[in-house]
Amino acid sequence: MAKAKTQFVCQNCGTVHTRWAGKCEGCGEWNTIVEEDPMGGIGSGPGKMPKKGRPVTLTSLSGEIEEAPRIPTGMAELDRATGGGFVRGSAVLIGGDPGIGKSTLLMQAAAALSRKGHRVIYVSGEEAVAQVRLRAQRLGAAETDVLLAAETNVEDILATISEGKRPDLVIIDSIQTLWSDTADSAPGTVTQVRTGVQAMIRFAKQTGATMVLVGHVTKEGQIAGPRVVEHMVDAVLYFEGDRGHHYRILRTVKNRFGPTDEIGVFEMSDRGLREVSNPSELFLGERNEKAPGAAVFAGIEGTRPVLVEVQALVAQTSLGTPRRAVVGWDSSRLAMILAVLEAHCGVRLGQHDVYLNVAGGYRISEPAADMAIASALVSSLAGLALPADCVYFGEVSLSGAVRPVAHTGQRLKEAEKLGFSSAVLPAGSADLPKGSAGKWREVESLPDLVARIAG
Ligand code: TYD
Ligand code: MG
Repeated sequence: MAKAKTQFVCQNCGTVHTRWAGKCEGCGEWNTIVEEDPMGGIGSGPGKMPKKGRPVTLTSLSGEIEEAPRIPTGMAELDRATGGGFVRGSAVLIGGDPGIGKSTLLMQAAAALSRKGHRVIYVSGEEAVAQVRLRAQRLGAAETDVLLAAETNVEDILATISEGKRPDLVIIDSIQTLWSDTADSAPGTVTQVRTGVQAMIRFAKQTGATMVLVGHVTKEGQIAGPRVVEHMVDAVLYFEGDRGHHYRILRTVKNRFGPTDEIGVFEMSDRGLREVSNPSELFLGERNEKAPGAAVFAGIEGTRPVLVEVQALVAQTSLGTPRRAVVGWDSSRLAMILAVLEAHCGVRLGQHDVYLNVAGGYRISEPAADMAIASALVSSLAGLALPADCVYFGEVSLSGAVRPVAHTGQRLKEAEKLGFSSAVLPAGSADLPKGSAGKWREVESLPDLVARIAG
């Protein structure tokens, strides 16, 4: 028999290389390539006879298929992120930095479901049962019927969760600790994680239980990143937040059964995560209304409007090459706004350092923030505070034109609700709330906006 050739797999992105290399060509990470056995866990055993399937027409299915059955947790922010609750028989990956609060969130979800009479098994590969119980106690979840197990071996886990009544929800914390007898690679490698996750997904599909998988994201790629697993599961949620801030965001990046771009917002406390149903109030909490360089952006996250302050500091540079530093926004987008300000508005920033920060450690991904960012920059440069009761949104194009964005009505309604009485928005915006004209200042272009602020 020919000797099985080994392969070299990047632990961050899963790219297979024929030789070891210091840097992965797939994702550009360093020191992430590890030698693995390609057959580890896959396809061993006698061949199976092929079975003939029978394709069906789409129309013959009408009326037969219903909405995916879900189990809502009753935690509104979590249910919002999953699209209305966990779908039965699906696999969900919850990724995030170590220590961000994944285990806490899931223990709270487990307790909530258990209180509603669901059978929940929490399998911890990182902590002993006693530790998990301690956490549950702190979260006020110790009196629930959540079943705990401390296992890391895939076969043992399957045996444990198959025992007794079928579970409604199984939590595996975390996939990086999974290892299987059938895979030859070391625990924590891509092959091991993939084999383990495959087995868990199979269990979910066969039994109809929801499988929630926890995955740590590590920059160094020391342990297999969940990126490899993202393709295999039905939904991917990221739990994010800034260590210096006390709130956390659960962001949906993939969802086969619901919308993506939805977020759930939580606030950390010593008794666990608290749901934040009105995030704008949180992000605007510590606002200094008289400071130049601050603009309130009326954004949309999924279906929900979120108001957040963007802060800019523009100062004379003492360096040969001025500094540009961004927290919470795309730095290439900032470079674009600066270029448009220079080219079309005569705002010279070549001799200035530019710092941009989104308040509260929040991260904005919408191009609609362009106008708020530009306003904050101009306000800081001119040393003039923007009106405290005004919100800004609109996309800026390279020509300096300002383009309308979606959900204008929703943005303005949220702004009104929070006491903002005016808005600067793109000319030609659709669905402006009726009866409140006059309060909305429409601008055609970035020069128009700059003139309005500076003049
Ligand atoms: P943990 O849930 O263990 O994070 P992860 O599973 O993502 O690694 O939380 C990390 C630490 O933070 C843990 O010591 C508990 C603490 N914590 C709180 O005290 N309150 C909270 O609301 C959260 C989310 C965490
Ligand atoms: Mg944990």
